[in-house]
Amino acid sequence: MCGIVGYVGHRQAQDVVVEGLRRLEYRGYDSAGIALVDAGTIASDKRAGKLANLEAAIAAEPLPPSTTGIGHTRWATHGAPTDRNAHPHLGQKARVALVHNGIVENYLTLREELERAGHELDSETDTAVAAHVLEQELLECDDLAEAMRRTCRRLEGAFTLVAVDAHDPTTVVAARRNSPLVVGLGEGENFLGSDVAAFIEHTREALELGQDQVVAITADDVVVTDFDGSPATGTRYHVDWDLSAARKDGFDWFMRKEIFEQPRALADALLGRHDGKGQLQLDEVRLSEDDLRTIDKIVVIGCGTANYAGLVAKYAIEHWTRIPCEVELAHEFRYRDPILTRNTLVVAISQSGETADTLMAIRYARRQRAKVLAICNTNGSTIPRESDAVIYTHAGPEIGVASTKGFLTQLVACYLLGLYLAQVRGTKFGDEIAAVVAELDKMPAHVQTLLDRAEEVYALARQHADTRSVLFLGRHAGFPVALEGALKLKELAYIHAEGFAAGELKHGPIALIEEGLPVFCVMPPRGRDQLHDKMASAVQEVRARGARTYALVEEGDDAAAYADEVIRLPKVPTLLQPIVATVPLQLFACELATVMGHDVDQPRNLAKSVTVE
Ligand code: G6P
Repeated sequence: MCGIVGYVGHRQAQDVVVEGLRRLEYRGYDSAGIALVDAGTIASDKRAGKLANLEAAIAAEPLPPSTTGIGHTRWATHGAPTDRNAHPHLGQKARVALVHNGIVENYLTLREELERAGHELDSETDTAVAAHVLEQELLECDDLAEAMRRTCRRLEGAFTLVAVDAHDPTTVVAARRNSPLVVGLGEGENFLGSDVAAFIEHTREALELGQDQVVAITADDVVVTDFDGSPATGTRYHVDWDLSAARKDGFDWFMRKEIFEQPRALADALLGRHDGKGQLQLDEVRLSEDDLRTIDKIVVIGCGTANYAGLVAKYAIEHWTRIPCEVELAHEFRYRDPILTRNTLVVAISQSGETADTLMAIRYARRQRAKVLAICNTNGSTIPRESDAVIYTHAGPEIGVASTKGFLTQLVACYLLGLYLAQVRGTKFGDEIAAVVAELDKMPAHVQTLLDRAEEVYALARQHADTRSVLFLGRHAGFPVALEGALKLKELAYIHAEGFAAGELKHGPIALIEEGLPVFCVMPPRGRDQLHDKMASAVQEVRARGARTYALVEEGDDAAAYADEVIRLPKVPTLLQPIVATVPLQLFACELATVMGHDVDQPRNLAKSVTVE
C-alpha cells in the first residue's frame, strides 16, 4: 500500500526512482508520480493507473536530467485515484514536492488554516495539505529538515513523508511515524524506500529508522534526528536476500514462483530451530523461560491470511501446551476491551511486519503489560521491532499480494512456538516433541511432492473458468485451510467463495448448495476420533443435493466412495495437515485467476502491506 522512493547521488534519479517504483508495485497502487530537482525548480509528473502510464508520459515529455528525486505509487485513501490526486504534491509556490504514505488525521483543520491564509489546494488529498504546511515552514526557516520536523509536530496520524526542496538539489528529507521507511546506504549515493525492494538493485546495506524520526540524505551523508531535532541513530543492517529474489525467474507470476519456493521456504523456517534430536532452540524468543512458564493465556492476532495461520495455531498450541488460546482479528482486538494481564502472551502474526491494524493492536497489548511475540517475515519492519520477542519465518521476500509461502512458514513458526512452550513448561515429553519435529522436517519433501503434481490441479482449475461461486469445507485444523482456500479465490479470481466448518453446514450454508456447485472438502486424516467419518457424511450430504465435490484426502483414503474428485495429500499428522492441504488450493486459485485473465500478482483493490487502519 503506497510505495515511496527517494534518491540522491550520481545517477539519473529518474531511472533509479522509476525502477524503485517498479519493485514496489507489488505493494498495491492505483497511480504513480515522480518529482526531480532541476536548477531551482521542481519538475514532476504523475498519472492515474499503472506505472506504465507514468513512463509513457515522461517518454512523451521528458523530464530534465537530475540526480535528486522522489517517487510514489499511491493506493487511494482520501480522494479518487486521479492524475490530480496522485503524488507528488507541490507547495503553494512549488518550492517543495512531497510524497506521503499514511493518513493525516487533522488535515481538515490544517486545510482550513491554510485556506484562511490564502493557500489554494488543487487536490482533495491530505497529502496536498502536508505539502503546503511543509513549504510554509520551509519559507520561514529555509532548511528542509527543520521544516520537516516542524511539519511533523503539526501533523496527527500515520505518515511517511519524503520531500525535496527546489533550492537545494543536494538533499532529500524524509520522516516517519507509524508508516514504513528504510534508508539504503550506497557509495556516493543514498536511497529511501518503503522497503528494501526499492533499492536492492543498488545496495544491500540498509538503515532502519525508529518511530518519529526525520532523516536527511545527501550523496555522502545520512543525518537522523527525532522530531525535536535531537540527534538520533537508526539501526544498520545487511539485507540477506538479493535481486534474484525479486525476479520471476521464468514463472509467469511472482505468486506461482513463491508457491514453488515453498519447500525451500519451509526448510529455511525450520533451519537451526532444533538440535536434530527434537530439542527446540528458539534463540530469538527473547522472553525468559520463567516468563514463558507464567503465561496463563495466549491471544493470537493478525489480519487476512495471518489470521488463518493463527486459527491453526490455536488447535496446536492448546493441544500441546494446555494454555487457553484465543484468536482474534487484529482490527477488532483493541476495541473490545480484551482481558490482558502481564501473564498474557499476545502473538502477532504478520508477513510484512507493517500491517497498521496489527501494529496498533500490539501497542495496545503492551500498554496493558501483556508480552508480545511477533511472527514475522520482514527483517527491519516495525512489528518485530516493537515486540518483546520475535520468530522470523525466513520465507524470503513475498511479492505476490496473495500470501503463499508467507502463510506456510507462519504455520511452521506457530508449531515451533507451541512445541517450544510445551518443552519449557513440560506439558509434552521430549520424545513426543521430537516426533512432531521429525514430521515437520518432512514437510519440504511433502510439499515438493504436491508441486510435482501441480498439473493435475491446474487441469481442474481450467475447467472452472466460468464458475461464479465455490465453497470450501473443513473441520478441526482443516477449517482454517477452508477459509484460506476461499480467501485465495476471492482475492485472485474475484468470485464468490466461502469457507465453512463442515459441522456448521446443516445450520445454514447447506441452503447454498445447488446443482453443480463446486465444493472443496479438506478431509481430516483418519484418526482415533470420528472426525473423518463425520466429514465424509457432510460431503455426502452436499453431494446428494447436487454439489460437485472435490475431496483433499490423505494417501490411502478411499475417497472415491464419497466424493466426485480426489486430490491426494501426503500422510501427515492431523495438526500439521494445513501445511500440505493448503498447497493445492493455492495452485487452484493461481491457475484459475490466470485462465480468467486476471493480474495474479496485483489483484484489484488489494495491497500487499496495509499500512493504514
Ligand atoms: C493484506 C494482504 C494479505 C495479508 C494481510 C495481512 O490484506 O493482501 O495477503 O494476509 O494483508 O498482512 P501481513 O503482512 O500482516 O501478514
